[in-house]
Amino acid sequence: MRVIRRVKEMVKAAERWRRRGATIGFVPTMGALHEGHLSLIRAARREHDVVVVSVFVNPLQFGPTEDFARYPRDLPRDARLAASEGTDVVFAPEASEMYPAGCCTRVEVEGLSHRLEGAMRPGHFRGVTTVVATLFHIVQPTTAYFGQKDYQQAAIIKRMVQDLRLPVRVRVLPTIRELDGLAMSSRHASLSQTERRQAGVLFRALTSAEDAIHDGERDPHRLRRRISRLIQQQPRLRVQAIAIVDAVTLEPVKALTGRVAILVAARLGRTRLIDNLLVDVT
Ligand code: PAF
Repeated sequence: MRVIRRVKEMVKAAERWRRRGATIGFVPTMGALHEGHLSLIRAARREHDVVVVSVFVNPLQFGPTEDFARYPRDLPRDARLAASEGTDVVFAPEASEMYPAGCCTRVEVEGLSHRLEGAMRPGHFRGVTTVVATLFHIVQPTTAYFGQKDYQQAAIIKRMVQDLRLPVRVRVLPTIRELDGLAMSSRHASLSQTERRQAGVLFRALTSAEDAIHDGERDPHRLRRRISRLIQQQPRLRVQAIAIVDAVTLEPVKALTGRVAILVAARLGRTRLIDNLLVDVT
C-alpha cells in the first residue's frame, strides 16, 4: 500500500488506472478510522479493482468555534488500518495542496445544505461539498462510499453528483454501531467514561420512536417529545435537534407516511453526537 501526499501524483495514479480500464472504489475520510470506515473500505475492496482512502481533516467544514484543532490525527495508524483491509492508496494531502493560494471556488447545494445540521453549523456542508467535489476530480472514482450515520451529508452529496452530472456512483452503507447501539464516530474518542455510558441513549430513543410508529403512532410532534424525554433522562445530554423528515427531500413531515428519517443531534460535554434511523411507515 502507498501513501500519496501530492495531488499531482494522485491524479497521475488515477489516470493510469483508468487508462488500463480498472475501476476505483473511493472512501473519503477525515482519518481516525473506526469500524464504520473499515466496513466502507471492505465494500470498496469487494466491488472494485483499486481502493483509495483519503485522509484529510478539511478545514473548510469546521466553524470558527468547532473542534478543527482538537480533531484526532494519526496518519500512521490510519494507514495501517486501511492497509489491513486491502487499500491500495491512502491519499493524505496537506491543506495547502488541496487549497493552494488563491483557491476561492466553493461548491454549494442550496436548500438541503441550510436545513437541520446546516442551520446549526453554517457553512459546514459547503465545506463538505467543496472538498468532496475536489476529491472526486483528483481521485476519479467509479464509486464513492459514505456512511448512513451522516444522513444529511449523504443526501447532499447525492444531490451534488446528480446536479453536476459527476461520473461517480454514490453508495451509502448502514451505520456501524457499538454494542449499546451508539453509532461509531471519530469524535467519540473525546468522551469521558461517564459520557460514553450516557451516549447510548440516543439510539435507544430512536428505536423507541420506531417502535411507537410500528404500534401506530402517526403524530410527529408526539414522537419528537418522546425522543426528547428519553434523551433528557441522561443529565449531561443536551438535545440540539430532533427532526422527522422525508427521507429524500429532508423536508419535515406533517404526517407520518412513506419513508421517513428520524434525525437527532445532541451535545454531550464538548462532543456533538448525531444519529438517525430510517423508518418505512406502512
Ligand atoms: O464524513 C466525513 O468524514 C467528511 O465530512 C468527508 C466526507 C470525508 C469530507 O471531509
